[in-house]
Amino acid sequence: MFSFSNYQESSNYIKSKIGELKPKIAIILGSGLGVLSEEIEDKIVINYRDIPNFPVSTVEGHAGELIIGTLNGVEIIAMNGRFHYYEGYDLKETTFPIRVFKLLGIEKLIITNASGGINTNFKAGDFMVINDYLSFFAESVLRGKNLDEFGERFTDMSKTFDKNLSEKLKEVIKKHTGRVQEGVYAYMKGPTFETPAEIRALRTLGADAVGLSTVPEAIVAHHCGIDTVAVSCITNMAAGVLDETLSYDDVKQTAERVKVKFKEIIKEYVKEIYF
Ligand code: HPA
Repeated sequence: MFSFSNYQESSNYIKSKIGELKPKIAIILGSGLGVLSEEIEDKIVINYRDIPNFPVSTVEGHAGELIIGTLNGVEIIAMNGRFHYYEGYDLKETTFPIRVFKLLGIEKLIITNASGGINTNFKAGDFMVINDYLSFFAESVLRGKNLDEFGERFTDMSKTFDKNLSEKLKEVIKKHTGRVQEGVYAYMKGPTFETPAEIRALRTLGADAVGLSTVPEAIVAHHCGIDTVAVSCITNMAAGVLDETLSYDDVKQTAERVKVKFKEIIKEYVKEIYF
């Protein structure tokens, strides 16, 4: 459990490192999509290890650094490496950076992830803008004492993902790939991939894609008033959709295949939503 001063301590440390920079947009780079960091110019890189109270990333394919700089001329802060519940963190730890971003003055958050396609119209390599989520099987990240400095005890979640930001993102994706998906993301705890029965159940419940991240971060961002947009790269069809077994290698391979497109999309997008 963190106190408000824990978040302040981290934010003050980052402020002391970034001088005049005042990014208003934060980006969370999902599995295999860290390639965007190459595009960030005049950057200051801060290792998570050096930031007071920050958790440290453990998963292969996930670095652990904050990158502050300009992307396509727009000041941004990027999380290269994120935290997942399945790694053993509690949910407050997985979302710690989001509240630090709030204290740094971040107003817009772009969340990216890799997910499995449940909707049978999808195919591996598609991008899906997330318009809502299902999170029945996980406790709420906001459970426990509410920090009133960040937001209210009871939070409306009917507009978790900002409509305008999402529409603009759909346009940019369509322009770059010729197609775009939109739908509901089901959050699962992992680290097992789902069973075919779970996927059938999730489909019946209205899910279009499934993954192991994003929802805790989106809830915390929404709670503290950061406008949030999220996009999944559909790296594989979910368990049982096709007659094949799932592996993290396939997830990485698809992410690798689309990374250049993804990079171009986000580069153009930050310019679109900058004000
Ligand atoms: N399930 C859960 N998480 C994932 C998947 C999946 O099929 N693909 C990429 N992340």
